[in-house]
Amino acid sequence: QHPFIIAIDGPAAAGKGTLARRLAAHFDFAYLDTGGLYRAVALSLLLDGKDPDDGDAAMAAAADLDTRLLDAPRLRDEATGAAASKVAAIPQVRSNLLEFQRNFASHPPGGKQGAVLDGRDIGTKICPEAPLKLYVTASAEERARRRTAELRDRGLRPDYADILSDVKARDARDMGRNDAPLRPADDAHLLDTTDLDIDAVFFRAVELVKEKL
Ligand code: C5P
Repeated sequence: QHPFIIAIDGPAAAGKGTLARRLAAHFDFAYLDTGGLYRAVALSLLLDGKDPDDGDAAMAAAADLDTRLLDAPRLRDEATGAAASKVAAIPQVRSNLLEFQRNFASHPPGGKQGAVLDGRDIGTKICPEAPLKLYVTASAEERARRRTAELRDRGLRPDYADILSDVKARDARDMGRNDAPLRPADDAHLLDTTDLDIDAVFFRAVELVKEKL
């Protein structure tokens, strides 16, 4: 029996992580935040004082991923996210992280019956056979508002206009790259969360999972 895979893709700050975590808890599935892998590669460069555009350094960091960085406080910083979208455009970085993700999906840790993976290319590239694919999106303005509130909750003093331009720059890089650009898989269900609260999105997603389970 293959694990049941839920593939969740979408742009930055659309609410994928919250949804993915809740679905995983609800169905007792394993959860992998694949953005964290790209963030860990980026953070290792930043900590070494290297440029996120330094392709050789990024490939080396991805080939020898320091998984301790997945728990680093700076992993969630805006600067790390922005650098992550730069290293994520390098094909060798992507191919180095591919096996880890596919292995997680085919052998979910803890012997779980399923796995939820969220990212940008889960439905299109990492798990194209996933029985359920969700593409979670929201307007750039709404995503910037949510990210601003989230950073404020963490005690920071973000500037909305800066966050909005960062969200738009990240969209452009993630959708515009040649290797596994962000786009909905042909068989993905689109969930536009601009005017939906998290509970409504979650209940809709639960219905979709139950139709396929
Ligand atoms: O989702 P998160 O903001 O943590 O992702 C950080 C960056 O990692 C994204 O902007 C994207 O460039 C990259 N990423 C990716 N493929 C994934 C997950 C994340 O390219 N599956």
